[in-house]
Amino acid sequence: MSDLRKINIDGQEIEVDGAMTLIQACEQAGVEVPRFCYHERLSIAGNCRMCLVEVVGGPPKPAASCAMQVRDLRPGPEGQAPVVKTNSPMVKKAREGVMEFLLINHPLDCPICDQGGECDLQDQAMAYGLSGTRFKEAKRAVDDLDLGPLVGTAMTRCISCTRCVRFTTEVAGITQMGQTGRGEDAEITSYLNQTLDSNMQGNIIDLCPVGALTSKPYAFTARPWELTKTESIDVMDALGSNIRVDTKGREVMRFLPRNHDGVNEEWISDKTRFVWDGLRRQRLDRPYVRENGKLRPATWPEALTKAAEALKGA
Ligand code: SF4
Ligand code: FES
Repeated sequence: MSDLRKINIDGQEIEVDGAMTLIQACEQAGVEVPRFCYHERLSIAGNCRMCLVEVVGGPPKPAASCAMQVRDLRPGPEGQAPVVKTNSPMVKKAREGVMEFLLINHPLDCPICDQGGECDLQDQAMAYGLSGTRFKEAKRAVDDLDLGPLVGTAMTRCISCTRCVRFTTEVAGITQMGQTGRGEDAEITSYLNQTLDSNMQGNIIDLCPVGALTSKPYAFTARPWELTKTESIDVMDALGSNIRVDTKGREVMRFLPRNHDGVNEEWISDKTRFVWDGLRRQRLDRPYVRENGKLRPATWPEALTKAAEALKGA
């Protein structure tokens, strides 16, 4: 049974399910709230603080709209709908403060970062941040992880939103990623420096709001504004995932998922995501056989006969 509640967002009164979070109610009202850690298909972490809003009559401090439900708000003295503001001076100042904190340790290496042009941090710093910084100290640096051949890492750029940790644990079903340390020592890492075992791991590239996790096969080959985007359906398995094919001139550069609640939600498998790499580059143009412990070029019939012999003997 739904529990409908009235709420006033930036002067607009709407009725929403009381179980909704404020950020979802704002979306329903057509009001944009910036966010980094919140993702509607993952559990709520509430750690980036970018989604702060003002709850009128509530505690005299900004509230994280992704972590507060509409039913948590109290109505006014005459039963008026609770009032939430996303455009007040308090919210503006809060967003500028959060942005300044996030940029304390985030490197300003956008020109050499693969996320440039499609980076949430870049966009939101432009929209909600200040143009300068008061931070004069040295920025921290973090060692990169080796997550395997698909996901490239530049962990100094990580803003510890934990989306990658939540996705791998809750959706991909592996518990290999986590966060260690506290405060400035907090680091996202993989358990015992393992490479990731999931064939859904490519989705963390899309989820990472900054350039900490990027696509290794696509690295440094295109900028998003150079790409032509064509909507398509994946044919690599029977699921028929909704995808977007990004091309630069005549060349396919990458595949990304498209949202379809009934089919693939907004995820795709690594086979779907990275199949263009095999289609474009014929890596194995000639076979090799091993002789006296060393590889030497061979013809296809020779290599296949050797393989058949080895299989028979196995
Ligand atoms: S690596 Fe990216 S997704 Fe993971 S916690 Fe850091 S910023 Fe978030
Ligand atoms: S989006 Fe709400 S705290 Fe990160």
